[in-house]
Amino acid sequence: MKKERLDKILSHHGFGSRKDCKSLIHSGRVFVNESVCTNCDFSVDCDVDVVRIDDEILQIREHVYIMMNKCQNVVSSTKDGLHKTVLDLLSPDYKINYLGGDLHPVGRLDVDTEGLLLLTTDGKLTHTLTSPKNHVVKTYYARLKNPVDIETQKKYSDLFNSGLNVIAEGHEQSFVAKSATLIWPNEKKCEYLTEFGDASSEVLVSISEGKYHQVKRMFATVGNEVVYLKRLSVGPLSLDAGLKPGEYRELTADEIKLLLD
Ligand code: URA
Repeated sequence: MKKERLDKILSHHGFGSRKDCKSLIHSGRVFVNESVCTNCDFSVDCDVDVVRIDDEILQIREHVYIMMNKCQNVVSSTKDGLHKTVLDLLSPDYKINYLGGDLHPVGRLDVDTEGLLLLTTDGKLTHTLTSPKNHVVKTYYARLKNPVDIETQKKYSDLFNSGLNVIAEGHEQSFVAKSATLIWPNEKKCEYLTEFGDASSEVLVSISEGKYHQVKRMFATVGNEVVYLKRLSVGPLSLDAGLKPGEYRELTADEIKLLLD
């Protein structure tokens, strides 16, 4: 249960400096649970206490954890001159001052990539999930331009597995990718993999790093092209299949625990 000083909370919510907030509290305009509170040190229980200034009730939250099924044509950043951002998809209820930090997307998906994107105010979690040192596994569903026969599937799998020398793109240099896993429709039943037979243009790919256009460049390296990409999981967290592109929900307590443990 997060507790925070009353003057600090007010300052965080744009009521001026700590000194301004102390004066405001002393003026008798600040209420905690419907009683006037003139004690600047009052320790507010952020989950339970209701803080009101005149008629304005403050939305007090330390952190928020949101799972989004990112749709195409929105960018995974907080600002963009050209496109809508993932923050623009959120209801105004989420556009508040969080005590724990600013709301931001965890890592990036390309503008044309769909699927699981986390948004949070918890910088520590963001670091855990995105630091290259942690090798967090991310799984994607990819649809390829050229269907791949069984023999070539095996070739792709071996190449991805053994550390592909990924081609350069623009200013991005070539690099040797960490071992990645491919799963083809003949190998596993999965709601996303629907094509069965001698060739497939569908595949699941799991990578443990997050270089620029990594999945697209890996398939370009083996002479194919990704025409559709959707992220299905990040570490232990899977995309809620009930979320349509552009929809989101807060993580459950169990999901948050899964990520923080
Ligand atoms: N790899 C890509 O090429 N694009 C993404 O959006 C994510 C991983």
